[in-house]
Amino acid sequence: MTGLVSFIGAGPGAADLLTLRAAQRIAEAHIVIWAASLVHEDVLQHVREGAEVVSSAGHSMEGITHLYERAAREHLRVARIHSGDPGLWGGTQEQHELCTRLGLQTEVIPGVSSFSAVAALVQRELTVPEVAQSVVLTRLEGGKTPMPPGETVRAFAAHGTTMALFLSAARTKQLQEELLAAGTYDEDTPCVVAYAATWPDELVFECRLGELASRVREQGLYRQTLVLVGPALSAGGTRSHLYHPGHFHEHRKVEDPAARAELRARRQAARTAAS
Ligand SMILES: C[S@@+](CC[C@H](N)C(=O)[O-])C[C@H]1O[C@@H](n2cnc3c(N)ncnc32)[C@H](O)[C@@H]1O
Repeated sequence: MTGLVSFIGAGPGAADLLTLRAAQRIAEAHIVIWAASLVHEDVLQHVREGAEVVSSAGHSMEGITHLYERAAREHLRVARIHSGDPGLWGGTQEQHELCTRLGLQTEVIPGVSSFSAVAALVQRELTVPEVAQSVVLTRLEGGKTPMPPGETVRAFAAHGTTMALFLSAARTKQLQEELLAAGTYDEDTPCVVAYAATWPDELVFECRLGELASRVREQGLYRQTLVLVGPALSAGGTRSHLYHPGHFHEHRKVEDPAARAELRARRQAARTAAS
């Protein structure tokens, strides 16, 4: 028996967006470490009596290492709570490596990322058939964290698909310029901006890419803000092939032969357009 560290995704904020597994691990933990600046305190309602609750907000990783060391020595359970999904900008990899060095067992419990929470708030599919079939999750370059070569907003924007921009609201003017610079999006490309999505003071609005910076500045947003951009955010009228009556698969027969012929023709036209 050794200590166990669970890296837990707390979701975007609302406590009822926590998974059942996340709530269970929080309830079992002897030590709960949470990012008070990014995780809503409501998720702590699952903490059991007597557990030690530590905010990581004011500490570097070195500042909380002693908690992992104690967990290893005393075979304790630790719940390390991250905002959204821990696999996205959670800083979990370095902690995972530390825990492994200390001989602790680890696990990761996924959470609802802010980008999917924001799409849900505006009730928009990010992958609308024939409009956008990819989602780029990224951040604006030029901030404190260096970006790997080639990972620029401008390069990703050239694809013209849906993008979710994290950690970029403090420099929205630059963000807007870079999104437009590739020439694939234009000033009218729809955007969704969400501050503190699913928190009590959430603010969500839709705007055109050409007014993104001014609208964000007007609202004074610079942190805890996510931007979605891309034509899928206002598209409609197309149909998914999967639910089309002309589509078949191992669990469903073609319901309507005429629909089958129509779907085939659409697929052929799409192939011709792509070649
Ligand atoms: C350090 S990253 C963590 C991302 C997180 N792991 C996720 O999956 O959403 C913090 C950034 O995520 C976005 N974010 C996280 N929670 C949010 C929320 N409730 N509303 C809007 N944006 C949020 C913002 O872009 C924020 O700057």
